Amino acid sequence: MAASVAIAIIYRIVGSTMRALLDWFDQNARPLPWRVTKVTPWESLLAEIILQQTRMETGIPYWEKIRSAYPTPSALANDTEENLLHLWQGCGYYARARNLYKLALELDGDPLPETYSELLKLPGIGPYTAAAIASIAFEQPVACVDGNVRRVISRLNAQDLSDSQLQEHATSLLNHNRPGDWNQSMMELGSQLCTPKNPNCTVCPLDKDCLAHASGNPTQWPKSRTKKQTKISAAVLVIGDGKKVLLSIREGRTLGGLWGIPYAEGDSQIEQLLHGRSSIKIGEIRHDFTHKRLNITVYISPPLENEILRDPESVPLATLDRKVLALYMGYLGEEP
Ligand code: ADE
Repeated sequence: MAASVAIAIIYRIVGSTMRALLDWFDQNARPLPWRVTKVTPWESLLAEIILQQTRMETGIPYWEKIRSAYPTPSALANDTEENLLHLWQGCGYYARARNLYKLALELDGDPLPETYSELLKLPGIGPYTAAAIASIAFEQPVACVDGNVRRVISRLNAQDLSDSQLQEHATSLLNHNRPGDWNQSMMELGSQLCTPKNPNCTVCPLDKDCLAHASGNPTQWPKSRTKKQTKISAAVLVIGDGKKVLLSIREGRTLGGLWGIPYAEGDSQIEQLLHGRSSIKIGEIRHDFTHKRLNITVYISPPLENEILRDPESVPLATLDRKVLALYMGYLGEEP
């Protein structure tokens, strides 16, 4: 279907359905903490950054922890990146925490900007997050498109749409009187009713306007965008005394800034990691990142005299390292 026809469909929907969706939201929105009490734009930003890549149930306790540790951007800027990473540990996608720290430094005591285009210039803020903050915290009329909104719009049109078409359609639907609530109602609909596998069309406020519902097979839209994961063999070498272990600060995009157990990927790197040490294999763990599926063999080796061991609780560690430590402690017959 040509884009102009699809847009006509959306305009057909606007008048009759906007009210129904906002009514549904007003009656059914989950009492998320930032909905039941008034929050600052900064707290709203923290929520949106956490929810970019973390599920709601997991994300809420992180939001509570981080907003109480850092009630303002200046409070964060006055602390260290490492302390933020410590609070963030287990939440994953640590580049978000590193960017949040940069953002706080960049604000340098100024308040958050209020417009989409100014927000978009800040570290770690992409189109979705800029639109979410501008609309939810500052009532600016900008539409946001996340995975949930993508699913709702694709189904309304019974079409797979490009990112720019999705943004255009979301913009054409936006309610300018309540842009923040409108965006949240679209996301809420996608997460609560218009779910990927079992959409609950019988109670959906948009059912009469939804072409996917009319088709009888709504889940065929949108097409999955999941990327293939590569399988990788890796190894870790735990050098410890049963309480403390050898740790160093990791580099790289995924886990950079966190501390970690000596780690290697691929045969030759693994060989280097183990080279010249007596080690024994104590088990294997599996760990998934978005793009890679790791099969990690865990080795242990006694510390050498000059090796400085640390208490793993004293530094920020990724979930991968926590899993390794649990295996290590289990092997030694102690509680992790
Ligand atoms: N997902 C991300 N932000 C959200 C919000 N404010 N409401 C509902 N779902 C969301």
